[in-house]
Amino acid sequence: MINIDAHNHVKGKSIYLDDIQEIHGTLYALPFDATVAHAKIKSIDLESALKTKGIVTILKAKDIPGQNQIGGIFPDEPLLADGEVHFRGQVIAIIVGTTEHHCRVAAKRIKVVYDELPVITDPREAQKQNQLIMPPRQFRLGDTTSAWSQCDYIFEGRSDVNGQEHLYIETQGAYARPKEDGSIIVSSSTQGPTAVQRMVAQVLGIPMHKVEIDTVRLGGGFGGKEDQATPWAVMVALAAQHLHKPVKMSMHRMDDMRMTGKRHPYSADFKIGLTKDLKILAYEVTHYQNAGAAADLSPAVMERTLFHSTNAYYIPNVIAKAYSCKTNLPPNTAFRGFGGPQGKFAIEAAIVKAAESLGVSPAEIQKANLVKEGDELSYGQILTQVEAQNAWETCMKNYDYESQKQRVAEFNSKNTRFKKGLAIQPICFGISFTNTMMNHARALVHIYHDGSVVVSTGGVEMGQGLNTKMLQIVVETFGINASKVRIESTNTLRVANTSPTAASAGADLNGKALQMACNALLERLKAVAQKEFTDQIIELKDEMVFANEVKTELTWKDLVLRAFTQRVALTENAHYATPTIHYDKTKEKGHPFAYHVYGTAIHEVTVDCLKGTYDFDSVNIVHDFGKSMNPTIDNGQIEGGLVQGMGWMTLEEIIYNDQGRLVSNALSTYKVPDIYSVPKVINIQHLETEGHELAIKKSKAVGEPPLMYGIGAYFAIRNAIKAFNPNADLAVNAPYTPEKVLMDLYKKS
Ligand code: MTE
Ligand code: MOS
Repeated sequence: MINIDAHNHVKGKSIYLDDIQEIHGTLYALPFDATVAHAKIKSIDLESALKTKGIVTILKAKDIPGQNQIGGIFPDEPLLADGEVHFRGQVIAIIVGTTEHHCRVAAKRIKVVYDELPVITDPREAQKQNQLIMPPRQFRLGDTTSAWSQCDYIFEGRSDVNGQEHLYIETQGAYARPKEDGSIIVSSSTQGPTAVQRMVAQVLGIPMHKVEIDTVRLGGGFGGKEDQATPWAVMVALAAQHLHKPVKMSMHRMDDMRMTGKRHPYSADFKIGLTKDLKILAYEVTHYQNAGAAADLSPAVMERTLFHSTNAYYIPNVIAKAYSCKTNLPPNTAFRGFGGPQGKFAIEAAIVKAAESLGVSPAEIQKANLVKEGDELSYGQILTQVEAQNAWETCMKNYDYESQKQRVAEFNSKNTRFKKGLAIQPICFGISFTNTMMNHARALVHIYHDGSVVVSTGGVEMGQGLNTKMLQIVVETFGINASKVRIESTNTLRVANTSPTAASAGADLNGKALQMACNALLERLKAVAQKEFTDQIIELKDEMVFANEVKTELTWKDLVLRAFTQRVALTENAHYATPTIHYDKTKEKGHPFAYHVYGTAIHEVTVDCLKGTYDFDSVNIVHDFGKSMNPTIDNGQIEGGLVQGMGWMTLEEIIYNDQGRLVSNALSTYKVPDIYSVPKVINIQHLETEGHELAIKKSKAVGEPPLMYGIGAYFAIRNAIKAFNPNADLAVNAPYTPEKVLMDLYKKS
C-alpha cells in the first residue's frame, strides 16, 4: 500500500496546522523571548507595546491562573519566565494581536532591564560547578577493576559530539478555540497530544476533561515535538481563555530555531581494554550530557544513552556513567535515537582509537565483538533473536566488501588530491519506551451500519507512515477495501491518556491495540455469519463472506447491517500494554526492551584533500526489518534516517557563542543535507528473519534505528583523512564539517 498521504502531499492538499481554516476573529500570538542567557529580570515595560495598533493584550507570568509550570519529567520549567531567565529564547511574555505583523511591531517596543548573571554553555564546566539536572546514573556489568589487569591493551580518550536542529519542515504551532462551556479545543502540531492536554489543564487551572487536543498530522517531528510542542499550545490556550477568542501561533523558522531545544551535545571520556585477539574485555565511559536550562526529556535521553553505551558489542565488564549537565541553553530534547546515537558514538570512537593505535582496521575489532544469542547487556537484558552477526556477514557478502576494500586501497595509492575512506557501522537498538509505564496504547474502531469504518488511535502521523500501517491492519483484518476505512485525527476525546508517538514504538503499540479491536469486531461479525453457515469456517475477504473457503452471497456490507439489526455492538475500544518488559532503576537491571533491531552499513566517501569537501559514493545497508509490513515506507525510513544521521555527523553544526546566543540561527548558517550531499548510491537489503512477536505483524520498528548508520559517515571521513595524513593525532569531535576536515588534513602530528 502506498502512503495514504502521498497524493495529497504532492498536490499540496494535505492540511497542516497553519492550513486549518481560521474562524473569523482569530487572533495571533507571538512569544516574546529573552535576549540574554542568564539574568534576573529587573523590569519589563509593556506600555508602548500595549499601545501598538492591533495589539489586544500581552500576557506575563502573573496572568497565569493555574501553575506556571510545563516541566514534563521534573517541574523545573516555567511557561513564562518569572523574575529570571535561564537561556536566550526563554519566553517572557505572549503578545496577542489581530495580525502577526502587529505583534512583531509591538515586540520591538517591549523594554526589559536585565541584571546579568554568569553564563555556562559547556557541560563539563557545569558538572564541575555541580550544576546538574539530577544525580548521575551508572550502569555496571562484571568488574572492570579486575578486568583491566587481564587486558593486553588499554586505551583512553575523549569524544565530543554536537547537537542537531530538528528542522521539521512544519515549524511549531497551535490553534486554540474556546467553547461556550469554558472548555477549549487546541489543534496542536504535537507528537504527544496527552502531554499538551495535561499542561494546558495545569497552566489554565482547569480539569483535563475541559481540554481537547486534536492533531491531524505533523510536517515532521523527529522528537522535536515530543515535549517541545507543548509550550506554544499552552500559550494560545492561555490567551484564548483570557480573551474568549480563537488564538493561533505558527512559528517563524528563526524564532523556532532560537527558542527550541535540539539534540543533546555530549562529551565523553572513555577507557577501553582488549585482549591480543581483539576481544573487548572492559569499557568504562563517562558521558557529559548538555541538557540546557531545564530537564525537559534529558533524564530519559540520558538513560537511553546508557542503554546503548556498548552499541552492538558484547563487553563483559562495563561501567557506563552519565551526568545530565545544566547549562544556559534552550532545554535540549528528544531527537530520533533519543540519546542512543550519542552512546554509540563514544564506543565507536573508543574502538577506532584502539584500532588506530594497534594498526588494525576498526572493522576487525567491531566484528570480533558483535553481540550473540544469550549475551547480557550492561543493564541485565539477555539478548535473544540476535541478528548482529547475520547482518554483518550478509552485508560483507552481499556487497562484496573485500573487493570494495581493495578498490579503495588501489585508488588511494594512485591519488594524491583525492582520498577515499571506508567505515562499517553496525547497530543494535532497543525498542520500547525505557520508562516501562509508557508502553501502552489504545484504539477505537466504529463500523457504521453502511459498512464504512472509522479508526482512532493514540498514534500521531508525522510523515513516518503510521496511518498507512494502521489502515493496512484494518483492511487486512476485515478483508475490505481501503476506501471503506477512514483514519481519524489523533484526538484526546476519542483516545485518552496516550503516550507520545515516539521511541519508534508508535506502530507497534497503536497497531497492536488496533489489531485487538479489529479482531474483537471480526469475531462478532463471524458469529453473525455463523448463524447462517452453521459449523462452517467463516472468513472475510474481498468484502465478501467465505464459508469453508467458498464465496457466499453475503457481502461485508450486508453482514454489517445484519449485525446491526441483530443489535450486535459495532464499536470496539482496545487496550494494549507490551508484555515481558520491566526495569528496576534502583538496581539498574531488567528487561526494558521488547526486542532489538539490528543492521550493518558500509560507507564509502571521497575526500577532496585540497578543499576539505567530501562526497559519499555509497552507503550499503543490510537491515533487520523482521517481516516488513510496508517495504516502501520502511525503506523510506531507512533512507531518511540514514541521511539525517549523516547530516548530524557531517554538515550540521550548531554554534552557540559563549554568551549562549545561537549563531547558526537560520538555514543560511545551518546546513542540512540536500540532493547534492546525500550519498550517490544507497542500497538497502532486507535481512531474512522471522521477525518478532512483539512487533506489529512481525514488522520491526524502523523509525529511529537507521539514523545511527549515519555515525559511520564520520569515521569514513576520518579514514580518508588518515590516508592523506597518516600520522596526525586527530580528535574525535563531530560533526566533520568541510572546515574541520581541511584542518585535520593538514594537522601536524
Ligand atoms: N519520519 C518522518 N518522516 N518524520 C518524522 O518526524 N520521526 C522519527 C521517526 N521517523 C519522524 C520519522 C522519530 S524520532 C520517531 S520516534 C518515529 O518516527 C516515530 O514514529 P513511529 O513510532 O511510528 O516509528
Ligand atoms: Mo522519537 S526521538 O522517540 O520522537
